[in-house]
Parts: sequence; structure tokens; C-alpha cells
Amino acid sequence: MAAKKRKSPDGSPTNDLVFSAYVGTNDEVFPYVLSLYVAPGSIVADVTYGRGVFWRKVPRDAYKLLASDLESGVDCRNLPYQDESIDCVVFDPPYMHTPGGTAHVNHQNYESYYKNNQTNSEKKYHEAVLDLYFTAAREAWRVLKQDGIYIVKCQDEVCANQQRLTHVEIINELQTYGFITEDLFVVVRNSKPGVSRILNQAHARKNHSYFLVFRKPKGRKRWLGLKHRLQIATNGSRKSQPFSATNEELPLFQ
Ligand SMILES: C[S@@+](CC[C@H](N)C(=O)[O-])C[C@H]1O[C@@H](n2cnc3c(N)ncnc32)[C@H](O)[C@@H]1O
Repeated sequence: MAAKKRKSPDGSPTNDLVFSAYVGTNDEVFPYVLSLYVAPGSIVADVTYGRGVFWRKVPRDAYKLLASDLESGVDCRNLPYQDESIDCVVFDPPYMHTPGGTAHVNHQNYESYYKNNQTNSEKKYHEAVLDLYFTAAREAWRVLKQDGIYIVKCQDEVCANQQRLTHVEIINELQTYGFITEDLFVVVRNSKPGVSRILNQAHARKNHSYFLVFRKPKGRKRWLGLKHRLQIATNGSRKSQPFSATNEELPLFQ
């Protein structure tokens, strides 16, 4: 009897992939996150839109973007959206406590931007930072459709000489709400951050931050990737070509 011919596996080899860590800026890395997790045409609520930096390299018509911020009168903990109406929520709150006074002189310039201590939280310092992450996550859960994606920007911090791995604290808490952690992207700063005064360095100075990707699961279904993705230039071609993003849909490579 003739031996059965083995079917050759589908797909082709490549290293032209989205990677888990990049040296660069938020606006450079954010499109990579979208390209893996948010299909073009999706309804995306950026609930801490700020100046819209994240969206600088995302084509305007790629998503139905709902932009809001405390500055424009919308608190991320009380969103004006119906239950299960949004495909993706993006959250980038103040991720450093800024008590003011002289304690954090080098963070004073964050004060107008990072408003954590003015958002009616009873909690202080790092606990106030976490409180905003946790409360906003419950609201994101409410407005997200099943299988919706929650993209969270955060950075760890040393607070009162105590190492606070914020990304771990967020992941642990959000998983108790039912979110599944799908990914973690590390953004490493290009430039060297400094401090205004130092006596003796105790902990490594943070020069990286994270995009965490959570999914509000639909039953027990695992994430298998998107069939149609935002097309962006991935790492393979990044050095030789300027970063570009188009909203052409491409089949999933794997
Ligand atoms: C780090 S900035 C966001 C930057 C933004 N991702 C961008 O690309 O420009 C933090 C933003 O969170 C906003 N914010 C602080 N507390 C908030 C709250 N409770 N609800 C909504 N926005 C809030 C601030 O007004 C600020 O614009």
C-alpha cells in the first residue's frame, strides 16, 4: 500500500513580526499593539485621550475613535457609553504619584498633566494611582463587548523607597475581575532619564513602561489573533524604512 503523503504545514518562515519590546516612544509602539489586537473599523474609546499622542501614527479612518478625557469633562470611571457597546478601551492615566510641594520637584512639570490627586480618591500616593487603574478597569469591563480589548499603559515606580511593580499589581487585580492578560509590551526610552539630586542610588532608574493588553473573554474561547489587521511596518523593515501605518487590511501572518 502506498504511504500516505504528509501534508506540508501552512505558513512561511519570517521574522517580520510584532515584538514584545521596542526602544522608542508611545506613538511608535501603540500601532503595533493595535495591529495585533484591534481590527480596523472597531469602535475604540480612548478614555484618557490627553493630546492624542498615541494616535499620531494611526491612520485617521482606521478606527471609529471615541476620544474623551477628564479635561473635556468625561471621567474614565463613569463613561457615557452603554454596556457592552465598545470593541476596545484605551487607558493611559497618570501613572506616577505627584504629591506636589517639594517632595517631587523633578515631577512638578507633570502636575498639570498628571491629575491623580485631584480625582476624588480617598487614597494617597501609589494607592491613589492603583485606585484609578482598578476603578477605571471595572468601568471598562462594563462598556466592553465580549471579546473586547482593554489596552492599559503603565509604569512601575519606587514610592517611599518601596519598589512598586505597578504592572504586576494591575495584572493581578484585573484578572480577579475576569480579564485575561493577553500581552505585555515594553517601551524602552531612547533617552537617558536623570534625577535632580542624588546621594546614593538604591533602585534602578526606570527607563521603561508597558502597554498591557487584556481581553474580556467570551466564554472559554482563547485568543487566536485577528483575521484582518491594521497594516504597519514591523521590526524587520523598521531600520531601513521610516515607520508607516496604513489602514489597508492584510491577512494574519503566523
Ligand atoms: C498620560 S496623560 C494621557 C496621554 C495620552 N495618552 C496622549 O496620547 O496624549 C493622562 C491623562 O489622563 C487624564 N485623566 C486623569 N484622571 C482622569 C480621569 N479620572 N478620567 C479621565 N481622564 C483622566 C488627564 O487629564 C491626562 O490627559
